Amino acid sequence: MDLITRQLEDLFLKAVQKVFPDASCAAAVVQFTKDPGLGDVQCNSAMALAREVKDSPRNIAGKIAAAAQELDGIRPLKLISSLEIAGPGFINMRLDHQAVWKYLADQNEGRVYPSVENEGPVVIDYSAPNIAKRMHIGHLRSTIIGDSLKRIYRHLGYTVVADNHVGDWGTQFGKLIVGYHRWLDKTAYAESPIEELERIYVKFEQESVNDETLLSEARNELKKLQDGDEQNTALWHEFIDSSMREYEKIYSRLGITFDTHRGESFYHDMMSGVIADLKEKELLAESDGALVVFFADDEHLHPCIVRKQDGAYLYATSDLACIKRRIDEYHPRKIIYVTDDRQITHFKQVFNIAERLGWTVEREHVYFGVMKFTDGHFSSRKGNVIYLSHLLDEAEKRAFEIVTEKNPALPEEERKDIARVVGTGAVKYFDLSQNRTSNIIFEWDKVLSFEGNTSPYLQYVYARIQSVLKKAGVNGELPPPSETEFTEGEQKLVHSLLQFSSAVVQAAASYKPNVIADYIYDLSQSFNSFYNSHPILKEEETKRDFRLYLCSETARVIKNGLELLGIEVLERM
Ligand code: ARG
Repeated sequence: MDLITRQLEDLFLKAVQKVFPDASCAAAVVQFTKDPGLGDVQCNSAMALAREVKDSPRNIAGKIAAAAQELDGIRPLKLISSLEIAGPGFINMRLDHQAVWKYLADQNEGRVYPSVENEGPVVIDYSAPNIAKRMHIGHLRSTIIGDSLKRIYRHLGYTVVADNHVGDWGTQFGKLIVGYHRWLDKTAYAESPIEELERIYVKFEQESVNDETLLSEARNELKKLQDGDEQNTALWHEFIDSSMREYEKIYSRLGITFDTHRGESFYHDMMSGVIADLKEKELLAESDGALVVFFADDEHLHPCIVRKQDGAYLYATSDLACIKRRIDEYHPRKIIYVTDDRQITHFKQVFNIAERLGWTVEREHVYFGVMKFTDGHFSSRKGNVIYLSHLLDEAEKRAFEIVTEKNPALPEEERKDIARVVGTGAVKYFDLSQNRTSNIIFEWDKVLSFEGNTSPYLQYVYARIQSVLKKAGVNGELPPPSETEFTEGEQKLVHSLLQFSSAVVQAAASYKPNVIADYIYDLSQSFNSFYNSHPILKEEETKRDFRLYLCSETARVIKNGLELLGIEVLERM
């Protein structure tokens, strides 16, 4: 079964073709109504046809509607239970109840996406911290948004290759090796390796201001590393391994996994090939001994250096090699890069050059704004850094206090577990629920609030439904209801439940997990107004069963939706 609006679009297209076989602009768009009081879905083909057919849109709508209903009557369709022509020529429809229950069941199982073109793998490149630097809040967005996109694309049936393109190559390694030999504190290094590497790196920067020889020493060590010197290579591996172990701790706290961890160094041997290809296509120019690619004036891009005067390759060169490798290895349908918006120009340059090299593949730079605390920008180059691990600790600590205050009787172990799920969920949701291109300001009170568009609120709605179901003795899935009379509140909730799959498709198409977040929040709001005005347990059986069914469906959709954002739910909290 396809998206419900999609099935109806097919139906209406056939209806239009039947009534107006000669119309050239036959098209049908079916959408959910904004106001469920008007109906569940709406088709407005009539207005588009009016100019060509030379009849009033209302008459046209009437004809199309009659044809659609007739076609719908041919089994097994029967999607429409009633319809009405409204305003200038809208066709408003109520969906057939049996079709709705069937659709909700299929939607829960992810069986409503057959027309999503999901052949061919999608490579998602995200997180990508730089070795020997602690992962700070600036990496949070890439990690969390990338992971959510991976979940969304997998849900839609795509094969996803999740790749962590770590920054494991570059001039910093020469400096680190010098610092390691001169200033390393072995105990500190054993305890907190990245912190110690950061310290010696900063020390190098400070000392080298007054001591020129340090810089040439670092260049020398870097050269040795690049030439495969055994000792330096071993040290370099050690820096990578100890950093990755620290990153893994955070990934495991966040429930994040990758299929590959191919850092920039993985592409090192392919870079001379990139230069050769660029040369062959006559794309290279020389500028002060460096090799550069220029762009057409209307691209408004600075020249891109691909090899420095001293022979070293750059970030852009490794990204070019990486595109080639991904195309050759995976034949991907698409490559998605998730980084902050300071890299927009970088990716424009790289994509443009790849195109001119004939390395064509659909690709998307999914960029996001910075996350700020109220006191400024996060950067590992500045003093005021908030590390991801500290942030998560703080979130859990605060969540624990809230949970203890709300629910002091729960055993401590359970309160701790709740605090973990609520704390990490809140941090993720705060990020994912915002339009990713905006800068966001992190405020604890907003992040951890149990009211408004936050994950503690959504998790709470879920847990409350679980307690209702438990009280009613519901265990597992409920059969489709037999109730046929809906109140407005019930109608609204059903209307909202039906739209989960459309939200997922839209989130994938726009690379915006916040579309799903907004959807779950809306659903929870509809549920709450339903719940506050509809008694459940004291109703007679048919009504009671129907309302319990709505509770259980809402819980399932909240759970599935939060899962696409990488957020867990709790049975009680
Ligand atoms: N390591 C880079 C940084 O921290 C991000 C890498 C993104 N991926 C890529 N293929 N360039 O800025």
